[in-house]
Amino acid sequence: MPTKPRVQVTPDHNLALDLVRTTEAAALASARWVGRGDKNAADQSAVDAMRLLFNSVPFEGVVVIGEGEKDEAPMLFNGETLGAGGGTPFDVAVDPIDGTRLVANGEANAMAVVAVAPKDTMFNPGPCVYMEKLAVGREGRGIIDIGAPIEVNVRMMAKVRGMEPEEITVAVLDRPRHAETIAKLRKVGARVYLIRDGDVAGAITAAQRGTGVDLLYGIGGTPEGVIAAAALKCLGGEIQGRLYPRDEAEKKAALDAGYDLDRILTTDDLVQGDDVFFAATGITDGALLEGVRYTRDGATTESIVMRSRSGTIRVIQAEHRWFKLTTLSGSRYGPDLDAHHGPAAGRQRRGHRSED
Ligand code: FBP
Repeated sequence: MPTKPRVQVTPDHNLALDLVRTTEAAALASARWVGRGDKNAADQSAVDAMRLLFNSVPFEGVVVIGEGEKDEAPMLFNGETLGAGGGTPFDVAVDPIDGTRLVANGEANAMAVVAVAPKDTMFNPGPCVYMEKLAVGREGRGIIDIGAPIEVNVRMMAKVRGMEPEEITVAVLDRPRHAETIAKLRKVGARVYLIRDGDVAGAITAAQRGTGVDLLYGIGGTPEGVIAAAALKCLGGEIQGRLYPRDEAEKKAALDAGYDLDRILTTDDLVQGDDVFFAATGITDGALLEGVRYTRDGATTESIVMRSRSGTIRVIQAEHRWFKLTTLSGSRYGPDLDAHHGPAAGRQRRGHRSED
């Protein structure tokens, strides 16, 4: 059996620059499914493409936040080993599409995301699907308190910014469960920025300067909370969380597994240490990143690449040629979409162009 190449990662190697190729691949592959109403097909294509590219990343990672358990998820399942091997082992959190519905509906803010941190440093969500989250950027660090009413947090943010509550914007997932919170936010005067899906992007938007969003608040996925914590560590922001069981059965499962449901989880509880790598690529256009755009020759992507230890934040714009998209999708349009054009039609068009 051929063995994997053993590549030694030097302490200063910025893994995020390798990881961005996996999020670019997931974005390019799933972009084929934008607006086609099939979120499962979009997700599968992103998973396949991301996994393919992981084989070339010079590290040894184990998925701790993945697509689920092995039996249900054929790829990128929790416990799956990724990478070309070598060096110190890492925990890997993947979200090949944060916002699968956004992709299916052709809506804004979907992105492909990866976070990596040293082994055993990422929080294990266990049976806890949801958590309450409060996220801010550098200015709000040490100021916010998820245990306090949301109005207090708004006032504190306004104070630290030298602004009025009316000038503070809070991103909230647009869900019926947030109706009361939204009413409280409006009462205190804050501007509420409702997001359809994608609270990883929402948390980063709150932590990035110049986005116009000051806070993210609400109940969303626990895995997304861990990924957002990795991103906020790189950005110097803060996230606080509290596990939120959906029903009595989930509550019991969490308590039986030893989870403290009253505990306020800090950024460090969600991702320990300071050697965190993060990459995300836009699939559809968003407040944070431009989505995949097709060109005559291929497609373009925009990604954010971050590392906590150095604090470097890069935005990478890339041009990809058709042959790369072909590798990721199996063909120019993707296996199922080719049927709309017919393989011959695709070949003829390309042949015609090369003869020009
Ligand atoms: P998926 O892309 O995995 O569907 O997640 C999208 C998302 O909006 C997350 O960003 C968020 O944390 C979670 O769903 C919220 O869950 P729900 O849609 O059940 O309210």
